Amino acid sequence: MLYENGKPFHDYVDADKGLVDRVIFSDQAIYELELERIFARAWNFMCHESQIPKAGDFFLSFIGEESVIATRDKKGELQVLLNSCRHRGNAVCRAEEGNARSFLCTYHGWTYGLDGQLIGVPGYKDFYHEQLDKSQWGLVKAKVASYKGFVFATMDPEAVDLDEYLGPVGRMSIDLLAAQGPLKMVAGVQKNIIGCNWKLAVDNLFDYYHVGISHASAFMSNFRARDPEAPPAPPRFSFGKHRVWLGDYGHAIGGPRIPTDEMANIIAHDNPNLDETWRHRDDARAILGDQAIESVGHPNIFPNLWVTEANQISLRLPKGPTGCEIWWFTLVPEGLDEKQHEEAIRGANHQFGPSGFLEQDDGENWDQSTRQTMGVVARRYPLNFSMNLKHGEVITPADGGAPYVDTAINEHAQLWTYRAWADWMDAESWAALKASRTPVPSDRL
Ligand code: FES
Ligand code: FE
Repeated sequence: MLYENGKPFHDYVDADKGLVDRVIFSDQAIYELELERIFARAWNFMCHESQIPKAGDFFLSFIGEESVIATRDKKGELQVLLNSCRHRGNAVCRAEEGNARSFLCTYHGWTYGLDGQLIGVPGYKDFYHEQLDKSQWGLVKAKVASYKGFVFATMDPEAVDLDEYLGPVGRMSIDLLAAQGPLKMVAGVQKNIIGCNWKLAVDNLFDYYHVGISHASAFMSNFRARDPEAPPAPPRFSFGKHRVWLGDYGHAIGGPRIPTDEMANIIAHDNPNLDETWRHRDDARAILGDQAIESVGHPNIFPNLWVTEANQISLRLPKGPTGCEIWWFTLVPEGLDEKQHEEAIRGANHQFGPSGFLEQDDGENWDQSTRQTMGVVARRYPLNFSMNLKHGEVITPADGGAPYVDTAINEHAQLWTYRAWADWMDAESWAALKASRTPVPSDRL
């Protein structure tokens, strides 16, 4: 059945039984509404502040399918500008990153300052008779804010502020990286397109069920090895011990946990291929608290930012209902020597991205999963997200930390993402979303 205008999106996600309608993964009308109700409304990740440290530095990113320029103006303030001239709409910036004094439109020459103001119009006096009000024709500006160097932007003036948007689970997602110490972004972003719906790529980041099957050959090849002579790193996770946080507005962290005493064993082995020593530092525990310090799971900041614990972050950018552009950013600790720096980048390249062992396996599955949502017969049958459903008890920590669930392998974070997706899709405005969103569960998952 195709999307019917007016049917509530919560009808496509059965949170009680753990079922999701396949139509949401390939329907054009649903996709177009996602661009409007999710991407044009949410706080979208732009870049890391270390990518645009100086006035005039810029980095081209996306809000949904729309090109935006993340830049730093003359006062050093972060700006995010829609990359579309107000005259005939031409893109005013074509380079993916760089440094500029202003943005000159190559069509007729309107020129915009780093803060988006229209500062130059050829023929302003003779052809426009000085009657064009330049103050009204600047580039469209997003609201911008950053958390620990991670820059986000929203095109919706009604959006809650970034701190409220991230909430404890969104902040914890970034803290899991920030707690490792000062980091800087490696130059260049790896980009590739996979023929899948963007939500299936997000869904997979919480998925540990597939690891032993999809990635069997990658693990046999010891792909993570920085030192091939060292014994294989000890296994970091089991199916039996998982920890999940569900956050307001759709953020979630899901995946394995390693209790502190087991982590001490891993660290004691001093394996060069698995450096977890940061987890024993007091400052890291102070930032993360007693629960998150044990998490080796994966966070998603809704809608599409995956923060891996392994110094890589990824955007799943929508490119039509059956296309997704994957971006991989690599962060490295500050102060590495040249060899360590090289090893960190090689490790990241071997893991995710176009040359990564893991995403080669994953992409093929997501492409096929997407194709199989298009069949008129296949669409009659929902997808199943019932693993360990209703077997998890929510624990609310006494210290006021975010509620979580300790359980075995599960699909709670995936199902939560789809529930939140339905909240966003059913709400006609930020005010409606605030009023009607599903509360973070406080009893059972
Ligand atoms: Fe930009 Fe005409 S389109 S100046
Ligand atoms: Fe995978």
